[in-house]
Amino acid sequence: MRVVVAGATGLTGSRTVARLRDHGVEVVPVSRGEGVDVSTGRGLDQALRTADVVVDVTDAPSRDQEVSTEFFTTATGHLLEAATAAGVEHYVALSVVGAGRVGSGYFGAKAAQEDLVRHTTVPYSLVRATPFHESVEATATAGTRPDGVHVPPLLLRPVSTDDVAAALAHVAVGLPLFGVLEAAGPEEVRLDEVTAELLTALGRPGPVIADARAPFFGAVLEERALLPGPDAHVGHHTFTQWLKSR
Ligand SMILES: NC(=O)c1ccc[n+]([C@@H]2O[C@H](COP(=O)([O-])OP(=O)(O)OC[C@H]3O[C@@H](n4cnc5c(N)ncnc54)[C@H](OP(=O)(O)O)[C@@H]3O)[C@@H](O)[C@H]2O)c1
Repeated sequence: MRVVVAGATGLTGSRTVARLRDHGVEVVPVSRGEGVDVSTGRGLDQALRTADVVVDVTDAPSRDQEVSTEFFTTATGHLLEAATAAGVEHYVALSVVGAGRVGSGYFGAKAAQEDLVRHTTVPYSLVRATPFHESVEATATAGTRPDGVHVPPLLLRPVSTDDVAAALAHVAVGLPLFGVLEAAGPEEVRLDEVTAELLTALGRPGPVIADARAPFFGAVLEERALLPGPDAHVGHHTFTQWLKSR
């Protein structure tokens, strides 16, 4: 089995390449450094020519809805076109829990990406992950104001990119789901509480303000909007374990 990983140099992509190799499959890593650009389509036909499976773990340059929608619709369009031409048997895309019910911000962009995947003729699987542990720091940075760090008091099941990569590799070597598998972390936490834990661990303790109007990935969300369903694949690594190991 030959698996192309688009976004192979990324947080999730690099781990997915390693997990796929553990499964004994041949992996073709794709990124701009390899001369392949999913935004322009450059090098894609050649890279996918003999692929059986494509795993798309590319990411947009921004969380802004317009910018990320432009990226995901263009990149996924190019990837699906090349996958169709190459006769790829399984297309696996990494999405976010919430894409099915939140229409704004980055979630709206991921929903647009999912729609393209669902409407292709290539058999597909969608893996929706909960927010990565790393996203807590990114949200804290984006929410830093003179009076403290504003983050929404969302309930989350943050997941490690190792656990997401394991779920993606497992799906990629199996039969297409023609549907969604959710991947989530083992613990439910509150974003403001883990943000305070992170800042203390980084030596930057200070006020963390639970602000229901503060955006998360460009969207203002209900408290439970990003919780997975009961059938989610549950990973092993908690936020506290991840924090200690970084
Ligand atoms: N962050 C979260 O909490 C979260 C939660 C659930 C799901 N996700 C999803 O996880 C996926 C992967 O995220 P990540 O954090 O692992 O991404 P990342 O670390 O930012 O990596 C992005 C990858 O995309 C590649 N890429 C970007 N633009 C490209 C282009 N024009 N042509 C070719 N390759 C390009 C990059 O390669 P080069 O720059 O080397 O070319 C890199 O390998 C995303 O789709 C995201 O929606 C994220």
